[in-house]
Amino acid sequence: MIKPRRIGHAVYETPDLDRMIDYYTEVVGLVLAEREKDRAFLATQVGQLVIQLNKAAAERGVMLSFEVAPNSDFKDLARELEKDGIKSELRNDSIPGLGQVLTFKDNKGTTLALFKEWNYLGKHLQHHGVGVYKLGHIAWVVDDPRKTAEFYGKVMGFKVSDWIGDFFVFMRCNTDHHTVNFIRGTAAKMHHMAFELKDFIHLQNSCDLFGQKQIPIIWGPLRHGPGHNIATYHRNPDDQVIELFCELDQMFDEELGYFEPRPWHRDTPQRPKTWEAGNTSIWGPPPLPDFHRARDAMQAQPAGH
Ligand SMILES: [Fe+2]
Repeated sequence: MIKPRRIGHAVYETPDLDRMIDYYTEVVGLVLAEREKDRAFLATQVGQLVIQLNKAAAERGVMLSFEVAPNSDFKDLARELEKDGIKSELRNDSIPGLGQVLTFKDNKGTTLALFKEWNYLGKHLQHHGVGVYKLGHIAWVVDDPRKTAEFYGKVMGFKVSDWIGDFFVFMRCNTDHHTVNFIRGTAAKMHHMAFELKDFIHLQNSCDLFGQKQIPIIWGPLRHGPGHNIATYHRNPDDQVIELFCELDQMFDEELGYFEPRPWHRDTPQRPKTWEAGNTSIWGPPPLPDFHRARDAMQAQPAGH
């Protein structure tokens, strides 16, 4: 079984490379680490690559990378994947700071790339905008979240952190409550992508930046039930939903099997569970209709996450 230690970067196709570079540098506060004619690479202020943009006809999430242990043998991992009937390919995509990647497709057609060698793309980088700390998680709309959760559990070693009803599953590969999540719908596409901020004050500052730049906050600030993160959501120029969050639940000890109370949960202890569908927020307003536009092509779901 593959054991990803953390998410690396997400690759998106975009019809307007310059507009998206402006958004990621001026709003999200990433740094443009490298620019080619049809590709751009964006890093956090500490120099971790988090976003790759490829020019294309339409917006689309195409690839996620995950770091595996440095002593991993790609040949062994390829054999492991073969056992699950998955064909993989060793590639060098000339991604700045990244060595070879072992790529394969997940059950919904997204390319996953495993890497073990990487470098920071500079350090103490000057940034504008929010200045997010890291790429936190990516949520996808899938037709059958149970099937996708099975794939990510069996092939990638992810563990289920929570379900909302039978339509939204949150999965972890490290202490973070979730790094991938899957919500049921008819359009197989990204639901939202989330960046982590330092703390609530950082989140407040990001709200003020949205105010200054007149970017509507389409949900939040709120504290979620599943994951207990404080979050806001907005749309980027490609109409993708972007979440900024802090205070995500942490599972520091898998043997103990509960999330650290930081500072509190209603459940004591807070273990992975199935939340009742409906409003799962601990506090905060419900989403605006513009948030649910992400689900235009999706089946109607109860209000909530
Ligand atoms: Fe999220």
